[in-house]
Amino acid sequence: MHPTEWIKQRSPQLIQDLFAFLSFPSVSAQTQHRPDLKATAQWLKAYLEKLGFWVELWGEPPIVHAYRAGPSGAPTALFYGHYDVQPPEPLELWHSPPFSPRIADECIYARGASDDKGQVFIHLAAWQYLIERYGDLPLSIHAVIEGEEETGSETLYGMLRQHGKAWQSDVVVVSDTAFFAEGVPTLTVGLRGLVYTEITVRGPQRDLHSGSFGGVAPNPALALATLLARLKSEDGRIQIPGFYDRVRAPDEKQRRLWRRLPATDEHYQRLMGVSALSGEVGFAPIERISIRPTLDVNGLLSGYTGEGAKTIIPAQATAKVSMRLVPDQDPQAIWESFRQYISQLAPAGVEVEVRLLHEPAPAFETPTDSPYYQAAEQALTEAFGSVPIPVREGGSIPILSHLQRAVGHPPVILMGFGLPTDAVHSPNECFRLRQLWGGLHATIRFYESLSGRKNAT
Ligand code: BES
Ligand code: ZN
Repeated sequence: MHPTEWIKQRSPQLIQDLFAFLSFPSVSAQTQHRPDLKATAQWLKAYLEKLGFWVELWGEPPIVHAYRAGPSGAPTALFYGHYDVQPPEPLELWHSPPFSPRIADECIYARGASDDKGQVFIHLAAWQYLIERYGDLPLSIHAVIEGEEETGSETLYGMLRQHGKAWQSDVVVVSDTAFFAEGVPTLTVGLRGLVYTEITVRGPQRDLHSGSFGGVAPNPALALATLLARLKSEDGRIQIPGFYDRVRAPDEKQRRLWRRLPATDEHYQRLMGVSALSGEVGFAPIERISIRPTLDVNGLLSGYTGEGAKTIIPAQATAKVSMRLVPDQDPQAIWESFRQYISQLAPAGVEVEVRLLHEPAPAFETPTDSPYYQAAEQALTEAFGSVPIPVREGGSIPILSHLQRAVGHPPVILMGFGLPTDAVHSPNECFRLRQLWGGLHATIRFYESLSGRKNAT
């Protein structure tokens, strides 16, 4: 049966299954959700066992590792995805509860609908199709679905050290990225790396009356603000010594390709709801998102933040600061220079501590000249009606380089079906049904093509 016909017939059941998956509040950043992560992993285990996979749960929160062999001599694909989601807060901005999925305006609304449960589900459904269509999987599949991607993949680093060798594969497939825009099919060819840190500034031994001590007390909140302001210059350059040393110059071929995209200032202003862009002077917006590194403050906390006025000088202040890295930047070296630069900036009277919040990860690149890339290109062309463009993403999947190395360095295909309008990591996250079904169609064709089946139907 043709994939579109099968999808039409099965869509009510598939939606029901996906909704069950989306209903688990699998938030990895919050310890209160540990039991929910476990329950989600168990749901996945049961689902994969029903599809005839051998399944193990490893570590805490559990990594779901599943395997089903195809015919002898058939290639092996390793699928990587994550079932954990970002915290849904602020809850009051959601139009419906984040873990009660619903369909409105041709979109599925729920935390994780796009990042990444909806996209993981595409693969579960594609395997279901293949097994029904061919009576067996036409290729061997390893599935590695973790519950800690959004918090640094600590458990998976450990599991790969122990078991990576046993998972040697011909190709790694990931659906955890997005199209450039609706109607512009995209294959991701690069992701930025990530160094995520937390800075704590400590001053007085307790919060002080800001009248009695104001004028003599070192203020950690102001000290932190001053320090943060020195991380970037007015023209958007990061001030850490040596930060740009290994950053590559833009490549002309790439620039030509980008000129074909409607990646104007207005395009990004509209997506974000702002009246002007920020960033490094001298680079186009798409360059600033993909081939240039950045530094951002992701959170700030100090003093009294409740209702009304409270006159204190806070005892401490904290900021979460992350840097997105590009190819050739060494995450460990960047972390060292960052730490050193911060310690130089610490003013007298306060103590500054900097720590890493997770394993620093390098940028990731994947070539466009492998047969696997061509298979993905063809699959997307059939499902979405035009040839996908290769684009570098600003986001990160920090574990990816490590995962690739651990399983024998095969090509990685980043075949994601999200849209920039999906509101990932924000309130009212959604996944377009067109992307779900088109993504499923493309994924089926991709696996068929890997296994040497020539799209008979
Ligand atoms: N799915 C995203 C990565 C992504 C984001 C790809 C946007 C394409 C476009 C992934 O789940 C993610 O958000 N990763 C985090 C990693 C971090 C929290 C360790 C990121 O990039 O912030
Ligand atoms: Zn994701």
